[in-house]
Amino acid sequence: MTSGLILGIETSCDECAAAVVRDGTAILSNEVASQVEAHRPFAGVVPEIASRMHVEWIDAVVARGLAAAGCTLAQVDALAVTCRPGLIGSLLVGVSYAKGLALATGKPLVAVDHVRAHVYSPHMERDIGYPYISLLLSGGHTMVIDVRGLDRFEVLGATVDDACGEAFDKVAKHFDIGFPGGVAIQRLAERGDPDAYRFPAPSVRRGGDRFDVSYSGLKTAVIHQREQFRVDRSAPERAADIAASFQKTAIDIVVDQAIAAAHRRGRHRIVAAGGVAANRYLRRRLANEPEFETFFPGMALCTDNAAMIAGLGYHVLRRDGPSGLGFGAAARVAGFRRAS
Ligand code: KG4
Ligand code: ZN
Repeated sequence: MTSGLILGIETSCDECAAAVVRDGTAILSNEVASQVEAHRPFAGVVPEIASRMHVEWIDAVVARGLAAAGCTLAQVDALAVTCRPGLIGSLLVGVSYAKGLALATGKPLVAVDHVRAHVYSPHMERDIGYPYISLLLSGGHTMVIDVRGLDRFEVLGATVDDACGEAFDKVAKHFDIGFPGGVAIQRLAERGDPDAYRFPAPSVRRGGDRFDVSYSGLKTAVIHQREQFRVDRSAPERAADIAASFQKTAIDIVVDQAIAAAHRRGRHRIVAAGGVAANRYLRRRLANEPEFETFFPGMALCTDNAAMIAGLGYHVLRRDGPSGLGFGAAARVAGFRRAS
């Protein structure tokens, strides 16, 4: 491979995104077309709507990504596209489009794992030395990973049921306070008392190298608390207190596990990534852990974007070469080794 100007394409969920990145870190453009307005009436992402909108938008979004970077498709050295995990219909749009571009231009194409790209994203803004504990919190995934190199991952903790962001989204849906749920809960929580309620915070399978988390009990308890106020009209409406207490518990559960994992492995750095890494309580909580050096990506790199796909794509391409055109899209996470 010659120089490293990569066009990244991301369509794994409800963001239609394209970005141009040089040498894995220099972001020349990072265009994200959000479908949030189309999904809002359903308070959740509707897969059929998502994939249809990607089909309609992808060409224009890629054109915007190139224009914002001030370059043409001909000037790009290679293409990178998210191949897994995500909504299969949405992934297929990006993968098919990228394969078409690769065929038409003869440019190398590399398939990129979305979760690994989230983990990589903070490296685009800061020099972060290995090893560290990655706290990967998104709408679909919750992982505590011992990261020893670009692709040297050992999963120490994962959710046994709902993902952290998913718990925010489901509670927000039940509260009927808006979509997407994470930001809506955060906004409401800022007016509430985080110590008003003590919700269950199970840490499951702790011990040895296992630092799993569970969110279904917390979610049920929060929804139940909310229901009590709906039924008992004499009780004061304390939605902000419930939201603040939920947010604190949901974040503390997983931060506590990440810290325990860091102690176990003797790591001194904790690096947060994924959509929930945008959460202000999480950022405050981690920044106040004096024992650890902590890192977070900027907001634009926390939530879904194509810059992280182009960024990681650059390294995967250098190491493994192009993926060819034979790869498929896959809905499920794959290839992560668990600590035994
Ligand atoms: O990484 P991401 O954009 O998409 C996935 O790969 O899933 O993460 C989206 C998730 C959603 O669950 C959303 O509610 C959550 O991140 N999120 C937040 C915040 N911003 C986004 N959760 C809590 N606080 C936030 N400020
Ligand atoms: Zn994501």
